[in-house]
Amino acid sequence: MAKYIVHQSGPLKGEVVVSGAKNAVLPLMAATLLTEEDCIIRDVPQLRDVVFMKEILASMGSAVKELDENTISVETKDIITTEARYDLVNKMRASILIMGPLLARKGRARIPLPGGCAIGARPIDLHLKGFEALGADIIFNEAESYVEARAGGQGLIGDSIYLDMPSVGATENIMMAAVLAEGTTYIENAAKEPEIIDLANLLNKMGAKIKGAGTDTIKIEGVQRLGGAKHTVIPDRIEAGTFMLAAAITKGNVTINNVVPEHLKPIIAKLRECGVRVAATDDTVTVRGDLGPQNSTDLMTLPHPGFPTDIQSPFMAFLSLVNGTSTVKETVFENRFMHVSQLRKMGANIETAGNKAVIKGVANLRGTQVMATDLRAGAALVLAGLVAEGTTEISEIYHIERGYEKFIEKFAGLGATIEKIED
Ligand code: EPZ
Repeated sequence: MAKYIVHQSGPLKGEVVVSGAKNAVLPLMAATLLTEEDCIIRDVPQLRDVVFMKEILASMGSAVKELDENTISVETKDIITTEARYDLVNKMRASILIMGPLLARKGRARIPLPGGCAIGARPIDLHLKGFEALGADIIFNEAESYVEARAGGQGLIGDSIYLDMPSVGATENIMMAAVLAEGTTYIENAAKEPEIIDLANLLNKMGAKIKGAGTDTIKIEGVQRLGGAKHTVIPDRIEAGTFMLAAAITKGNVTINNVVPEHLKPIIAKLRECGVRVAATDDTVTVRGDLGPQNSTDLMTLPHPGFPTDIQSPFMAFLSLVNGTSTVKETVFENRFMHVSQLRKMGANIETAGNKAVIKGVANLRGTQVMATDLRAGAALVLAGLVAEGTTEISEIYHIERGYEKFIEKFAGLGATIEKIED
């Protein structure tokens, strides 16, 4: 398996451009199943997860074309099957996002049960609760390990759904199921992430009638049909945050272009608390880790607009080296401290108890062999490797390449030395 060799790189300097958001483009691509007309999506990042979603759409009957390096067109004149293939769904949890569109357009969707993953069980009960509220029957087939949703004879009927927790995927899936339902649907306690708003914007361009995306309550008035649309993916706030942390941990001076500062507010606030200078314009942030001492803070991850769980592990790498004792509390996923053991191998002083970690800053980290356990844990190990003495060899890097476009090239442009070696 391929590895990264990360060299101690000194303060990062220069500019980097953020790509389109992985967690926006995946639901946007799923939404194209809702119309037989052509949809054009721009700023599509070149990621393994995007390749997987293209394969899944093609298996359902979509014609997916690359118009240029970061633009695709998707046209699904007819959905040839409402059963997603195990070998495709098994590669990526976000495949579940085709369930809502299939149910809306064809009245049926059958998906192999998505496995959990390194960061937790990640059930889909809230997705299914939403479909049931719209009148679908849910059939669980444990023996053959699939779940099927079937609309009643008269199709889906709008209703009110309260989400026990503001699940991002469930909010997206239910929104996509409701757009063609009879009548009006309300999603209460909805997720408010920027990616939800981006999806609602595309759906409304396609002819949907959605109000309230980004607030606790989303109202969807069902329409007869949706048409094609053109849409540009919002910038990836998690990639932006990762580069912000890279500038902080290396005590560098980095300007990050193509960002929406509003999406980065929790990260900006916490970095400033630690003594890191952050200046924002309307579409850039400049992070200066080279001015003044860096100190500890307390962090708790929450659904948006709280601190994003996807930046928890990169932030913990940074906290490993600041003065003083910090705490991190992970409230979104039940097992998202897999990076802790790997950071400790590098000399970090981190103790965990349940979903809480206590990090005592150390003077330096040591390069060694570590393993990426999930996408963002891998990113955290790269950041640690940039400042650790010697070199850090990171295995299982396929996790990282799922979610970061041109990762090595972008870091090289800032003065970092990361080599990829194929086994
Ligand atoms: C999305 O995952 C993101 N992925 C995740 O990013 C992100 O960490 C997460 O939202 C939270 O912001 C994509 O958008 C493709 P959730 P999702 O449903 O939709 C529980 C990354 O690194 N839950 O909001 O799966 C669940 O177990 C990835 O880019 C239920 O209990 O997140 C988890 O503990 C990682 N029942 C919590 O809610 C359900 O039906 C949050 O999950 C659904 C979720």
